[in-house]
Amino acid sequence: MRAIDIIQKKRDGIELNEIEIKTILNNYLKNEIPDYQMSAFLMAIYFNGMSRNELKFFTQTMLNSGEQIKFEGIKHFLIDKHSTGGVGDKTTVALAGLFSFFNIGTAKLSGKGLGHTGGTIDKFEAIPSFTFPETRKELIDMINITGTGIMGYSDTIVPLDKKLYSLRDVTATVPSIPLIASSIMSKKLAVYADAIILDVKVGSGAFMKDLEQAKKLSETMIDLGNSFKRKVVAILTNMEQPLGFAVGNSNEVIEAIETLKGNGPKDFTELLINIVALALCLKEKNKNMDEAKSEVEQAILKGKGVEPLKRFIKTYGGDEKIIDDYSLLPKAKFRYEFKIKKSGWISQIKAENIGKSAMVLGAGRATKDDIIDYSVGITLTKKVGDFVKEGEVVAIIEHNGKNLESSLDFLESAYKIVDEKIETPKVIYEILSNLEEKI
Ligand code: URA
Repeated sequence: MRAIDIIQKKRDGIELNEIEIKTILNNYLKNEIPDYQMSAFLMAIYFNGMSRNELKFFTQTMLNSGEQIKFEGIKHFLIDKHSTGGVGDKTTVALAGLFSFFNIGTAKLSGKGLGHTGGTIDKFEAIPSFTFPETRKELIDMINITGTGIMGYSDTIVPLDKKLYSLRDVTATVPSIPLIASSIMSKKLAVYADAIILDVKVGSGAFMKDLEQAKKLSETMIDLGNSFKRKVVAILTNMEQPLGFAVGNSNEVIEAIETLKGNGPKDFTELLINIVALALCLKEKNKNMDEAKSEVEQAILKGKGVEPLKRFIKTYGGDEKIIDDYSLLPKAKFRYEFKIKKSGWISQIKAENIGKSAMVLGAGRATKDDIIDYSVGITLTKKVGDFVKEGEVVAIIEHNGKNLESSLDFLESAYKIVDEKIETPKVIYEILSNLEEKI
């Protein structure tokens, strides 16, 4: 079977069968098909999409390209909460405490930050001495000890995605719903979890810029996950502006802890309550969402996630004293107060610009080999819908003298101030699932 015939069929909109999909993908992984042919194949998918069957075969081949981790003898109901990537998203740090309090297990692979979006791995690594498991055995041990197993993506899991993603990145084929769905879901399916919660970010700071596209991606991933017999729920959330106030690493860890202590930003707290409540509904069939949400609200008010997070950090080798003493986290040398030039209501704080503003200081990576400075970042003091007076401080930049000018340029262009009152934007647009149980 020749690659050119498979490409031609896809180009002409004819459905491919399992053998054709397996052949072209597996031969590409073995370097028997050159990048230029795979680029053409990806572009044909970009324009013609994939049928349900094609997507399933494509994802199955991706999944089978590497190691799959299935856990034996785990007592916990395991949830993998995955975010499609955002700015200021410190949810996984806070969930390590709350999931543990509610006896919900976690098994997941997390990513490092790239471009304007942050990564969970970097946030935890801001904690002195914190070390992620590196092997499958260590991951399983961590789940058994703490209920929470998190490790970085390794080359052994879905190696085909790594190779394809590098090519998609340079051939303008990243923004394809079936390619994104198979990329995300193959990695989710590779590590066993009883249910998957997808936090699909929508807006300027996200992959999906509008709600309609985000809905389509969510429905595709839910259907795909269900076809592999996994429960999948998608929560579509606002990423027009950053989540919470803190964007960076040390500062995001502090915000996650403060949220567990009941002092968190409204938007982040609301998202957290919804995700934990969804997890409870997935775990306990008879629970409804309102009931679950009020349990989580109470737990946050009483600070119930704090001690479990402390234990989690300690078990992963980190200095758990940071929970009570933030000065033990990396701290930047300088602080700059960014003041707004006009009075009015804030109608926009573009998440992408704030992400870039933090990235150039060293909080994120422009390329994947960049070294992170955990101490730097941006902390907003106002959000969309707030009224500000000319000269008022709207963000604090913590920096070490690197690229302050460029960081300020990104900040300047992030804000839009208007004369009419603006409503506080929604945090959660919609929750999607096709589970029989009510959510
Ligand atoms: N995240 C992924 O893991 N894959 C994509 O294709 C896009 C976002």
